Amino acid sequence: FCLSPNSVNCLLLFHLFVHRVVKSFAGNCSLTLRFTVGLTGTKLGCAEGGCGACTVMVSRSSPSPPPPRHFAVNACLAPLCSLHHSAVTTVEGIGSVASKLHPVQERIARAHGSQCGFCTPGIVMSMYALLRNNPQPSLLDIEEAFQGEVLRSYQSKTFVCSPCWWQKETYMESGWPCTCSEACTKREYVEYFLLYNPSEFMPLDPTQEIIFPIELKKPLKQLCFQGERVLWIQPSSLTELLDFKTQYPEARLVVGNTEVGIEMKFKNLLYPVILAPAFIPELNTVQRTADGILFGAACTLTRLGMVLRDAVQELPTYQTEVFRAVLEQLRWFAGQQVRNVAAIGGNIVTASPISDLNPVFLAAGCKLTLASKGGKRVIEMDDSFFPGYRKTVLKPDEILLFIEIPFTKKGQYFSAFKQSQRREDDIATVTCAMNVAFEENTNSVRNLRLSYGGMAPTTVLAKETCKRLTGRKWSDELLQDACSLLAKEMTLDPSAPGGMVTYRRTLTISLFFKFYLIVQHKLAQDLNVEVRYVRPDYASAAELFHSVFPCSTQLFQVPPGQNKDDVVGRPIMHLSALKQATGEAVYCDDIPCYDNELHLALVTSTKAHAFIENIDTKEAMCVPGVVAFLTAKDIPGSNRTGPAVYDETVLAEDMVTCVGHIIAAIVADTQAHAQRAAKAVKITYKELKPVVTIQEAISCKSFYQPTRKIEQGNIEEGFKKADHILEGEMHIGGQEHFYLETNCTLAVPRGEDGEMEMFVSTQSTSKTQMLVAKALGVPANRIVCRVKRMGGGFGGKECRSTILSTVVAVAAQKLKKPVRCMLDRDEDMLVTGGRHPFLGRYKVGFMKTGRIVSLEVTYYSNAGNSADLSLALFHMENCYNIPHIRGMGYMCKTNLPSNTAFRGFGGPQGMMVAESWMGDVALHCGLPVEQVRRLNMYKQGDRTPFTQRLEQFTIDRCWEECLSISQYNQRRKAIEQFNRQHRWKKRGIAVIPTKFGITLTSNLYSIQAGALVHVYIDGSVLLTHGGTEMGQGLHTKMVQVASKVLGIPCSKIHISETSTSTVPNTSPTAASASSDLNGMAIYDACQTLNQRLQPYKTKNPKGTWEDWVKAAYFDRVNLSANGFYKTPDMGYDFETNEGKPFNYFSYGVACSEVEVDCLTGDHKNLHTSIVMDVGNSLNPAIDIGQVEGAFMQGVGLFTLEELLYSPEGVLLTRGPGMYKIPAFGDIPTELNVSLLRDAPNEKAIFSSKAVGEPPLFLAASVFYAIKDAITAARAESGLRGPFRLDSPATPERIRNACEDSFTKLVLHLPYIDIFWGFFLKKFPT
Ligand SMILES: Cc1cc2nc3c(=O)[nH]c(=O)nc-3n(C[C@H](O)[C@H](O)[C@H](O)COP(=O)(O)OP(=O)(O)OC[C@H]3O[C@@H](n4cnc5c(N)ncnc54)[C@H](O)[C@@H]3O)c2cc1C
Ligand code: FES
Repeated sequence: FCLSPNSVNCLLLFHLFVHRVVKSFAGNCSLTLRFTVGLTGTKLGCAEGGCGACTVMVSRSSPSPPPPRHFAVNACLAPLCSLHHSAVTTVEGIGSVASKLHPVQERIARAHGSQCGFCTPGIVMSMYALLRNNPQPSLLDIEEAFQGEVLRSYQSKTFVCSPCWWQKETYMESGWPCTCSEACTKREYVEYFLLYNPSEFMPLDPTQEIIFPIELKKPLKQLCFQGERVLWIQPSSLTELLDFKTQYPEARLVVGNTEVGIEMKFKNLLYPVILAPAFIPELNTVQRTADGILFGAACTLTRLGMVLRDAVQELPTYQTEVFRAVLEQLRWFAGQQVRNVAAIGGNIVTASPISDLNPVFLAAGCKLTLASKGGKRVIEMDDSFFPGYRKTVLKPDEILLFIEIPFTKKGQYFSAFKQSQRREDDIATVTCAMNVAFEENTNSVRNLRLSYGGMAPTTVLAKETCKRLTGRKWSDELLQDACSLLAKEMTLDPSAPGGMVTYRRTLTISLFFKFYLIVQHKLAQDLNVEVRYVRPDYASAAELFHSVFPCSTQLFQVPPGQNKDDVVGRPIMHLSALKQATGEAVYCDDIPCYDNELHLALVTSTKAHAFIENIDTKEAMCVPGVVAFLTAKDIPGSNRTGPAVYDETVLAEDMVTCVGHIIAAIVADTQAHAQRAAKAVKITYKELKPVVTIQEAISCKSFYQPTRKIEQGNIEEGFKKADHILEGEMHIGGQEHFYLETNCTLAVPRGEDGEMEMFVSTQSTSKTQMLVAKALGVPANRIVCRVKRMGGGFGGKECRSTILSTVVAVAAQKLKKPVRCMLDRDEDMLVTGGRHPFLGRYKVGFMKTGRIVSLEVTYYSNAGNSADLSLALFHMENCYNIPHIRGMGYMCKTNLPSNTAFRGFGGPQGMMVAESWMGDVALHCGLPVEQVRRLNMYKQGDRTPFTQRLEQFTIDRCWEECLSISQYNQRRKAIEQFNRQHRWKKRGIAVIPTKFGITLTSNLYSIQAGALVHVYIDGSVLLTHGGTEMGQGLHTKMVQVASKVLGIPCSKIHISETSTSTVPNTSPTAASASSDLNGMAIYDACQTLNQRLQPYKTKNPKGTWEDWVKAAYFDRVNLSANGFYKTPDMGYDFETNEGKPFNYFSYGVACSEVEVDCLTGDHKNLHTSIVMDVGNSLNPAIDIGQVEGAFMQGVGLFTLEELLYSPEGVLLTRGPGMYKIPAFGDIPTELNVSLLRDAPNEKAIFSSKAVGEPPLFLAASVFYAIKDAITAARAESGLRGPFRLDSPATPERIRNACEDSFTKLVLHLPYIDIFWGFFLKKFPT
């Protein structure tokens, strides 16, 4: 709320863990403490309460429940003013590496739970807050505590997959139990290791926690803060509040700020007066009345849940039907951090059409007490309460005082349902509540109320349906009529906001069917009347979702007989893990502000394809603190930029080619001022027709050149030989990188000779250096690019980060001051592009046996507005030997932000299409798909379509082991039985192999690396190499390599950063090859040092490392060495289809089992077993984390994450609220990872293999398991044979594919509408 220091009339008092803070001013949220108090442990991942990275603990004294209360909150949404008389504990407050770690910090680090570490402080604080209230949490408590956290980055899942990582007695057994026969001679060499040993963890001692400060217990009085744009008033009584509301009728009441905060930040709304009623006793009332429970409107959702849970325990079951429905809705309502602060009143008065509580309150007919200075009135909540979109009947001077949630009576049944894209912490697609009351002791409906959210601009009642069903018996006839009536009444225009029209309409009926079954079941139990029992195979359709806490095993092998001092191959903790857990790890934006530092905000295009006509900066330049407005004219060097070809601009000149195209920049004294001014810049355009989709690009032949082709054999001949030919196509959606740390650059001009120091969150230090130098018109030797660590990258910071860095550098050079810019999440998503969406079209010829003889496949990728980096063909056949094959690859030139590198880089999309034709062939032949996969699989020595011979081919070993550890055959049988017994739930299973080529195929010059190793006189070693650390554990592995080669412990070796001034001309840290390349370069440098030290070792064999180093120093020996490596024999020519594009291949196989709810399209990931060939792992803990992290990112790609664009090319999904990445609940209930043993790879350092990208595709096993389950569901409706399922397999796609009598009731829209998602504008929340 931007309060300024000079216009204040109250002092803000709070405690920041042990420090007393009295402030005469307040920033917009407690995250401003990052700089004002110098505590940067709390991270900003989204600024909208959707990622949990900013979690802190707030403690408050409160009369009820007894003080103090501790709760996790999202700092990004917590206004600083709301913290008066609170104690705030950030991650720094509970422990540090230097002093003492808190047990939570220690456990998450030692259990390999921190990889990129950017979200680690948030996870630590969620757990810490839970333990402060409950030192012995149940599994359910832990699950709830993590609901507000998303999974991304390389963060290992091992710790959350453990049955209860907190409880001492349960831990993972890891290591390699030899499963060979008794006769196996290797048995004696098998060693057992634990990934971590919980018995060594510090115990939790609750008595050691910080005590709540007494001074904060004082009663609160009226407070008032006047800011730059907002007046914040905290009345101390109801009378004061009502007085203020009369005085400021337009004022907003803010309790949790989870609506208002979003409106002000993202919808650009400004509320000049805020009233904060959170501490007014009446608004916190909880009181049982004769008819129900009365809640003050400021009661938080957490409190609502606690009170209702108690009531459900105490009261007879029949009285608590509504309470249980509210609790069910709360289970899936946001994350714990939001529920801890968000109020009931806020949810009601916001009047969102997808509110989760309003349908319940409407269907239950809750009573609302409204109050104003003039008095109170009580109204019953029905749909007249919402006269329009986000409107209520409250008068401007009125507030909501109480809500009374009623008891239910005998013969009354109530349920609530919510369906969303992701089960946890997601806004609803459709949400509803259903209330039926029967005539006494009968099944005749006396009263029926069905309310729906997500079906209109307001929460609505299906009045006509209810009227027509009243008086009817609860029977199958009623069900049939209800479905037809709802299909007629709950209609949606095809262009309705929110899209998914067919799906949403089907849901209204399917959810009623669930309610029907639930009530039928209850009636059968409660009444002695003629009611048919629920059909046994229907029973599970009515079950609520039961979560089971995940469990996992990790299997790995430490090379037999390895020397104890040799750390390579051992599960060493990520070297920064402890610092990441305490918040001490420094990321780019954590670098302290320079005194004269300025902030930059981008001005971006709102049009996808247009000429810029005019730029008006008048209003922008009036925003306080604005220093400069920069355009292309301010670039002293070249405005042309790009990773491979210079086909982009740093700042647009006269034309824009995508929404988000960077046009200009504003520089100001603060980030808030810069952003405000950037929004105030007015640009007029002359619009041109944009090309947005692959389909549009194909129609107008808008492709980048060259088009690629790989061909082997003679496909025409192959098709002639085939028994059958099938054609099909598949679309695979794009993916947002969603690295937790957004793009960030700090450019510091050094004042002489054009020197500039750049601190950047980038995977490409050298590329950044070169492109910045080019734009500034200086030689590269004036620019130093430095990277300490990144909070995730995934390819997104390989090329796209360079433009932001260049703009910041231009500003810094022009203004001669340090300039910083960290993009907000919505800006980052808008500007940077992501994984390429793909369309694959195929024609496959095969024999009756399932043997594939000929394949023609064409790929179209949506490359966006620049060529950037785009590939796919090398993985078109996945692991299958197809004698006659032709693949074509087209890169579509469209008006979307340029898509770019992303973990797997075209490979997953290529292989995904392969598994689609493989599945089609099996379904067509009526053969088990696993059998067809096996039949077509490569063998050792076979050649790929690009003529590379497959050596050290381990896929068959991975396959057999995966079938064995997943107990595939038993599972398949159990699934068949389950599917026979369940009509509306179906299970499916799939085993999917992957073969992934390693190294950078596109740029030969990139397959090189350098290292620099300094040995200091005290024996300590400073190691530098060309790779950057983004959480993947590269630095840890490189230290292990140096430790082994030099023969010294890891503790003597340090990596400080990656810098162009120490190792020049580095390759981007990409393509999974960085350990291979940099490891060899380090090996080279260390060998040089060893040779130089050898004489001293020979001379003094009993000496120590320090002795030898000192002796060499005094002998004037150079103790600094650089190393270099280039992968030999590489190079491939598309024209001749000759050469070697890959150094080697990584292999893996995964088996997944899922359960699909055929009525809602929801699915549960029940089981996954992965066997991955990582050669001789350099570090099994890190590699297992990579396998799990890549797999979960793939789960997001193939089942969850969906980027939606308008037909005009505007990205609609710009943050975690709309774009869902996997959360903790998406981890398979059982997740086993086994690293293939005895599989040394002679092509890489210490026989290891690359691991970052290859496992991602294994998540296709979840997608194809879903398809398997849908096949079973379709069979119930008599549908057999191949069918199309595009990726991601969202609930909408799954439900629409499970065709049945309900889907038939709803008018089908043309498939293309849903497929392309053009109408998928969501209701704003
Ligand atoms: C990450 C995230 C996830 C979310 N998930 C969900 C979800 O799953 N389901 C869902 O339904 N919602 C969800 N929401 C929306 C939001 O959390 C709820 O609507 C919440 O209940 C709002 O409460 P609040 O106290 O934060 O409201 P505030 O932002 O403080 O206020 C909201 C509005 O209510 C008005 N208001 C508040 N109290 C009163 C009163 N007593 N009298 C008159 N007017 C009043 C205010 O003037 C303001 O206009 C989510 C929000 C976020 C940020
Ligand atoms: S930054 Fe606050 S929840 Fe993401």
